[in-house]
Amino acid sequence: MNKYIKNFLGAFSEDLGIDLGTSKTLICTKKKGVILSEDSVVVINSKTKEIFEFGNIAKKMIGKTPSYLEAIRPLKNGVIADYEVTEKMLRNFYKKTNSKKLISTPRVILCVPAGGTQVEKRAVIEVAREAGAREAYLIEEPIAAAVGMGLDIFDANGYMVVDIGGGTSEITVISLGGVIKASSFRVAGDRIDIAIMEYIRQKYNLAIGEVTSEDIKKAVGCVVEQEEELEIEVSGRSTLNGLPKSIIVVSSELISIMGELTEEIIEEIRAILEMTPPELSSDIKRNGIYLSGGGALIRGLDKKIENAIGTKVHVPDNSRYHVISGIQKVLESFNKYKNVLITTETEY
Ligand SMILES: Nc1ncnc2c1ncn2[C@@H]1O[C@H](COP(=O)(O)OP(=O)(O)OP(=O)(O)O)[C@@H](O)[C@H]1O
Ligand SMILES: [Mg+2]
Repeated sequence: MNKYIKNFLGAFSEDLGIDLGTSKTLICTKKKGVILSEDSVVVINSKTKEIFEFGNIAKKMIGKTPSYLEAIRPLKNGVIADYEVTEKMLRNFYKKTNSKKLISTPRVILCVPAGGTQVEKRAVIEVAREAGAREAYLIEEPIAAAVGMGLDIFDANGYMVVDIGGGTSEITVISLGGVIKASSFRVAGDRIDIAIMEYIRQKYNLAIGEVTSEDIKKAVGCVVEQEEELEIEVSGRSTLNGLPKSIIVVSSELISIMGELTEEIIEEIRAILEMTPPELSSDIKRNGIYLSGGGALIRGLDKKIENAIGTKVHVPDNSRYHVISGIQKVLESFNKYKNVLITTETEY
């Protein structure tokens, strides 16, 4: 089963970082930085199990495949759900980077959700090891995100990092290079897409696919009123007569549906803060809360959290790249960060 991934990793000539996300996979090398950013989607031939398409192009095919093809997102909720397809996807991603094939096996750092189970962590490490990685390490996603944002994680200073991805949101309090409190839960981008899809079906009797729903979220989605109303025209199938139909969706109508879900994230932030030791609470009040991941781009989310919690919220630029750039920094200064990495010897 691992021969594909063995070839895949064996091909790397230099230390490598992988952010294997539910929505996006990013690959970086120590020297070159990010060398790949693709949607974590694969279209396979259901009969031969061969890959038909992968990455960004495969994502465009979701909901449009004939019966002999199947579009698969092999990661769910931040963890590998379909191992074999994940292998194939990674192999194709690497091929796409056109890196030179060398025989040496690399040091690889992969990220895992802070709330991940030991079994999930072990699986990722073992995959990399069996694949021929000379040294395979894991880093908790929020720690990588904090490093990527430029926070000094070794400081005796508490930071709250909230990473909102496709499958999971993770809320973490970090101090002295460790995770003090963490919560990982499944209200993130994908859940919002489903809620928008449901809303459009009920309000407009229009069936739309998940890609269109995500387009709506990105184009006009918001959780607080916008200065200017945004709008987008979308099409789908009328649930009344089965015919193609277009509608206009405006930003204000999404506030309550998206607001309700983001309220759950805020409730979780509150719960974590209530469990946080007072000295660290006071640091977080002073430092503010840091958002990362694609979900950090939801319009008005920073303001909504700020109002609800009463603490400044920062969204550093390039929120979708915080984790991978953190991993790259760890590769660059490996000795400095080695104690925050998880290996078979340290964590289980
Ligand atoms: N401009 C935007 N506005 C709102 N949401 C966005 C925007 N851009 C991306 N997203 C959402 O961010 C999510 C992807 O974020 P990210 O790339 O951080 O996830 P991931 O790391 O692949 O997932 P996970 O960490 O859960 O495994 C998707 O749900 C996507 O729709
Ligand atoms: Mg992520």
